[in-house]
Amino acid sequence: MQIALHNLQRTYGTLHAVNGVSLSIPSNTIYGIIGKSGAGKSTLVRLISLLEQPDDGEIYFDNVRVDGLEGDALIQRRRRIGMIFQNFNLFSSRNAEQNIAYPLEITGTPKGEIKGRVDELLALVGLEGRGKAPISTLSGGQKQRVAIARALACSPDILFCDEATSALDPQTTHSILSLLKEIQQKMGLTVVMITHQMEVVRDACIHVAVLDDGTVAEEGLVTDLFSNPQSAVTKDFLTHLVGVDEAAKGDDRMVQWSKKRGAYTLRFRGDTTDQPILSTVSRASGVDFNIRASGVQRVGDVEIGTMFVDINGTNEQRDNAIALLREIGVVVEEGVL
Ligand SMILES: Nc1ncnc2c1ncn2[C@@H]1O[C@H](COP(=O)(O)OP(=O)(O)OP(=O)(O)O)[C@@H](O)[C@H]1O
Ligand SMILES: [Mg+2]
Repeated sequence: MQIALHNLQRTYGTLHAVNGVSLSIPSNTIYGIIGKSGAGKSTLVRLISLLEQPDDGEIYFDNVRVDGLEGDALIQRRRRIGMIFQNFNLFSSRNAEQNIAYPLEITGTPKGEIKGRVDELLALVGLEGRGKAPISTLSGGQKQRVAIARALACSPDILFCDEATSALDPQTTHSILSLLKEIQQKMGLTVVMITHQMEVVRDACIHVAVLDDGTVAEEGLVTDLFSNPQSAVTKDFLTHLVGVDEAAKGDDRMVQWSKKRGAYTLRFRGDTTDQPILSTVSRASGVDFNIRASGVQRVGDVEIGTMFVDINGTNEQRDNAIALLREIGVVVEEGVL
């Protein structure tokens, strides 16, 4: 299911929670929407999932306009939208299989079919044989698996995950993201992943939109955003991810952080991550590099390196070095934050 948004607006009083969002979300993929707290992510999701009406703008699913649907058409369309949340939203009075059965019951699935379907869903999320477990006895990761199974019960074509892994530890986050990727491929779903964590975008998404103050600050392939971010808010998210922001605040556990001028951010992509670029450029231009922090991470199947350096030399040598770096394909940004 392909989703298109045209100039969506949602205002609460004088607050523009969603302020002119236009996006095209391809079908059969995992699409990330990242933003800080209050950026408008959950509001946007309520609009796209047809829980709330936009004040203005249009929403299309596979080129069919869906905002403004009412009555039975709205109910039918909503049934094919799955949602999972940070706090799982499970019924604590029901056990795992009763939670998963719930949407099947309210959509009138014959009793005889429900049991088989629930078992199938339990297996899909890796909880075979745990159907009778009371919710309170399950770990956070297992609760989210039950929530995923319940969200998939009515065979949705779109799945929204609103901070689905924010309450989980890194290892459990990893296993839930792997499960979501597997299910996405198996079912050909369009998954919209809302998060404030760049790790989630890096590890699960193909495309991403960066939301800031109700507007789209930047949008594109995750690999492009990581290797050549354009907006300040994206760069800020990446800096947090690399973990140098703590060092920048004067915490020297990770790196010795000098405050002098001449600080640059270098971004490497693919091939350039395993070449001795700094030595080459240093020899050719006469500058000295002082590496303050650096790291390489995997984004999809591409390696992306980030390095914070001081470049010491005359202005001319420095300009020369920067030109050489750019020639090799390194993105050079002045400043580190
Ligand atoms: N029903 C509402 N009534 C009034 N204001 C609202 C309502 N829902 C959201 N807002 C406001 O809209 C803005 C965006 O909120 P939203 O929940 O969409 O942000 P978010 O990006 O999901 O944040 P978080 O990461 O904290 O979940 C916030 O300033 C919020 O206070
Ligand atoms: Mg939210």
